[in-house]
Amino acid sequence: MTYTESVRTQAESLQNREHVRVLALETSCDETAAAIVEDGRVIVSNVVFSQIDLHALYGGVVPEIASRAHVEACDRVIDEALKAAGMRLGDVDALAVTCGPGLVGALLTGVSCIKGLAYAAGKPLVAVNHIEGHVSANYISHPDLKPPFVCLVVSGGHSHIVRVEDYGEYTLLGQTVDDAAGEAFDKAARVLGLPYPGGPRIDALAEEGNPHALALPHPHTPGRYDYSFSGMKTAFLNAANKLEMKGEPLPKADMAASFRHAVVSSLVDKAMLAAHETHAPALALAGGVSANRLLRRMMQEACDKAGLPLYMPRLELCTDNAAMIASAAYYRLRRGELAPLTLNAEPGLRLV
Ligand code: KG4
Ligand code: ZN
Repeated sequence: MTYTESVRTQAESLQNREHVRVLALETSCDETAAAIVEDGRVIVSNVVFSQIDLHALYGGVVPEIASRAHVEACDRVIDEALKAAGMRLGDVDALAVTCGPGLVGALLTGVSCIKGLAYAAGKPLVAVNHIEGHVSANYISHPDLKPPFVCLVVSGGHSHIVRVEDYGEYTLLGQTVDDAAGEAFDKAARVLGLPYPGGPRIDALAEEGNPHALALPHPHTPGRYDYSFSGMKTAFLNAANKLEMKGEPLPKADMAASFRHAVVSSLVDKAMLAAHETHAPALALAGGVSANRLLRRMMQEACDKAGLPLYMPRLELCTDNAAMIASAAYYRLRRGELAPLTLNAEPGLRLV
């Protein structure tokens, strides 16, 4: 039997299996991560090797350094995930990998590594969209959550409002017309001289500042549920330049609090509008920026007021990890969506 025939038969037999375990690898940006998840919901092991220290020196992710570090770390994180689960490769039912969007070299290291393993072990291979992975982090944190719901996906590369119609089925309601929310946080942090990645630093500093110290513009966007952060970012930069030219010190905590408040208010307003107008039965958050403290607080308040159930991934599942990829892969596997051994990285892959 060829590899393709064998994995097709295995995938069919998994439909009746009580428990299905997926081992996933994530290498789309600057985290090399491997995890084993059971039935899309229960983490058996979850290993994340962050490359932040390697990139912090340069103020951002350096693609060549990321690819090289992934090559060195892939085998190790997979071994660690298996060891922590007390399993061998033969014990998992399928292998999964993020195939896009992300940095092409970084994605390729993961895709090549997992394809080799899938062929060698004769296991089914599943390709996962990174953004779908972020959405799926909620399935792990909330075993009761089922589609349909509206999800705000906010990360370093994306700011989307999607309606999750069913597992793996999405309708795009809105998106950023310029910067992603995380990217805006990272750029504002750089203006304040905070190290990479700036989002969590701005978030921490903002806790001590006045969110109304600096007036930042509210963006106008073409679509009802679209976002724009570049106007806020420019106004923020101009305010900092003005103070510097006058030789005045930057009131960093107030500036961080004002920027965070402007970004988060916009995120909350549009997401609530989209949820309300599309009659969503629930709202979920996803992506690195969903770790933001003010976003979690303000979204909870808005949802409580509207009587709308809110789902948020627990903190360690907001930023990049492989458990969320394994969860998304489980639902693809259930639909029989296997990837061929010709699978390639797709840096510009879209969710819808
Ligand atoms: O999802 P993620 O780990 O990677 C991408 O898929 O992009 O998101 C990383 C982004 C970075 O821009 C980081 O600054 C931002 O999420 N981030 C935060 C916070 N934690 C991470 N932004 C604001 N507040 C936070 N607490
Ligand atoms: Zn991500």
